[in-house]
Amino acid sequence: MVEQDRAEKPDYGNWVATRLVYVPAAIGLIFAGLAVPFPLLAIPAAIFLLIALYFAYARYLFSPQGRNVQNQIRGLVAPHLDWNGEGQLLDIGCGSGALAIELAKKYPRAQVTGIDHWGGSWEYSREVCARNAEIEGVSGRVAFEQGSAAALPFADETFDAVVSNLTFHEVGGVKDKKELIREALRVLKKGGPFTFQDLFLWKQVYGEPQDLVRAVKSWGVSEVELINTSESSFIPAALKLPFMAGTIGILAGRK
Ligand SMILES: C[S@@+](CC[C@H](N)C(=O)[O-])C[C@H]1O[C@@H](n2cnc3c(N)ncnc32)[C@H](O)[C@@H]1O
Repeated sequence: MVEQDRAEKPDYGNWVATRLVYVPAAIGLIFAGLAVPFPLLAIPAAIFLLIALYFAYARYLFSPQGRNVQNQIRGLVAPHLDWNGEGQLLDIGCGSGALAIELAKKYPRAQVTGIDHWGGSWEYSREVCARNAEIEGVSGRVAFEQGSAAALPFADETFDAVVSNLTFHEVGGVKDKKELIREALRVLKKGGPFTFQDLFLWKQVYGEPQDLVRAVKSWGVSEVELINTSESSFIPAALKLPFMAGTIGILAGRK
């Protein structure tokens, strides 16, 4: 019975892949070994071991067995989506399917599509998504497709609502990440709601927040606001680095 319970739990993974812990730890240990004959190498050894330690701690903070920060950050998206749940919703960069599945459960009449390129950086896959949807009882209304956020394989105005969580900054080969927002809005029907969470307050990636909002408005959306979610009380100081959760924000509105 215990075995059966364990087998039926969804697996939503962790935003900090295990290799971000093991690779710097292994390099640190190699340097530590070499520091015996060459003492100066103790410096890179210490740096790599500290990096490994940081990512191990971040994994713990994100995990449901730790401080559950990953679920709480993802949980900020759905309440900002002003939708009646009728029609088709797209989740861009669906990862392990968590947000797509959450929204399928929230909107029982919706058809949900999750798209991701499932590259090597995370321990996610289409199979993991499909299994999670099955376990959560929504597999009949959720489909997962492989594709890139940079060129979504859908016609203009296909979806009634579009969401995305912490994906755009990860998309390789696109210098101006704002273009990914534009591409996401392309597949949204006129008047449909959108909610995107990403590192929108990281100026090196998205520029000044007011310019970002102005750019989105200039693409013909009727409403848009940028909400600073990086100051949510559940985000610990250790995760407030810009490339972690220190610059997260939500862009929400209506096309
Ligand atoms: C931090 S994870 C977030 C996953 C998911 N949105 C969540 O909230 O758990 C970033 C996701 O972006 C996806 N990704 C990276 N580049 C992508 C691309 N070009 N097209 C689609 N997805 C991409 C990764 O595969 C990964 O699933």
